[in-house]
Amino acid sequence: MTFEKILVTGAGGQIGSELVPYLSEVFGNDRVIPSDVRSNSSDNRFISLDVTDRAAVDLAMDKYKIDTVFHLAAILSASGEKNPELAYRVNIAGLYNIFESALKNRSKLVMTPSSIGVFGPDTPRENVPIETITRPVTMYGITKLMAEYLGNYYHARFGLNARGLRFPGLISYKTPPGGGTTDYSIEMIREAVKGKNYVCFLKEDSKLPMMYMPDALQSLLKLAEADDSRLKHRTDFNITSFSITPKQLEAELRKHYKSFEVTYSPDFRQRIADSWPGSLDVSAAVQEWDFHPNYDLRATTEDMIVNLGGKIRTRESNFLEAANR
Ligand code: NAD
Ligand code: SER
Repeated sequence: MTFEKILVTGAGGQIGSELVPYLSEVFGNDRVIPSDVRSNSSDNRFISLDVTDRAAVDLAMDKYKIDTVFHLAAILSASGEKNPELAYRVNIAGLYNIFESALKNRSKLVMTPSSIGVFGPDTPRENVPIETITRPVTMYGITKLMAEYLGNYYHARFGLNARGLRFPGLISYKTPPGGGTTDYSIEMIREAVKGKNYVCFLKEDSKLPMMYMPDALQSLLKLAEADDSRLKHRTDFNITSFSITPKQLEAELRKHYKSFEVTYSPDFRQRIADSWPGSLDVSAAVQEWDFHPNYDLRATTEDMIVNLGGKIRTRESNFLEAANR
């Protein structure tokens, strides 16, 4: 599939700030239009766009002849619990505007990331399939589940090519996360690299599915380019690379920072984490579009440390250090 003009909404966020250069590299700078409601970008392609403003969305889609949208503008789980009304408006009204405008412009594709937030406390805990009990208990999860249904509806009813995948917690170093429950993982790595200890807002045994950003980016593009005839699902693919508890991440970090310590002081985000599963069944993504992540916990941690300016300890460096003592 070729994409002539790609609009990225929420381009200033954790994913968008990395997806824009990634798509620009693949398709060319002039094919990608980054947009966000926050206009702090030095990128001269950047346009200011509030997705809840239907007229502004229509204008942008028409002006730039957009045929593909990566719709990332959203309010995440923890921020959504602080401001449920905003989460509803951005995640539902914003998505509706994008779908309607994409239809009007005969766009080829709208990519709408979903989340493990669609699951709830009644969902089975391990190896959770796509079709299962969902019943989310956060405004974020409710809006994400509705977004999946809306995408399926627009496809079935109007033929809109809406596609999406349920991201787990994403770990990355370029742009701070936007207020999610899985953000502890990024905070913990950052503090370890700074030589500080960390107070974790989740319990030490809260197991959640995770993924490193390079795997998230390549997965988005793989699904976007997947042959339609292979897709049995559309908007709700489970994907994940590994599952960890905060305690496991702490142990992984201590391999590199021996004196690193974490204390556990759960806050309101614990209730959100408790409602999400520990691991996911990703077989549909593998079968339908060859999902294949490359980074496990160790590779993710080491790459994060190096990119945050820290030093990793290898078996070799430990051996040399011991020999020099
Ligand atoms: P983020 O919070 O880092 O970025 C979201 C961006 O949307 C921000 O730059 C914000 O300014 C922008 N935005 C907010 N309201 C807007 C509006 N009215 N109009 C236009 N832009 C607006 O989020 P992210 O992590 O980049 O997430 C992108 C998508 O991926 C979301 O749909 C999210 O649900 C999904 N997702 C992310 C994760 C994760 O761990 N990061 C996990 C699962 C799913
Ligand atoms: N990382 C996201 C969050 O915690 C999952 O959707 O909100």
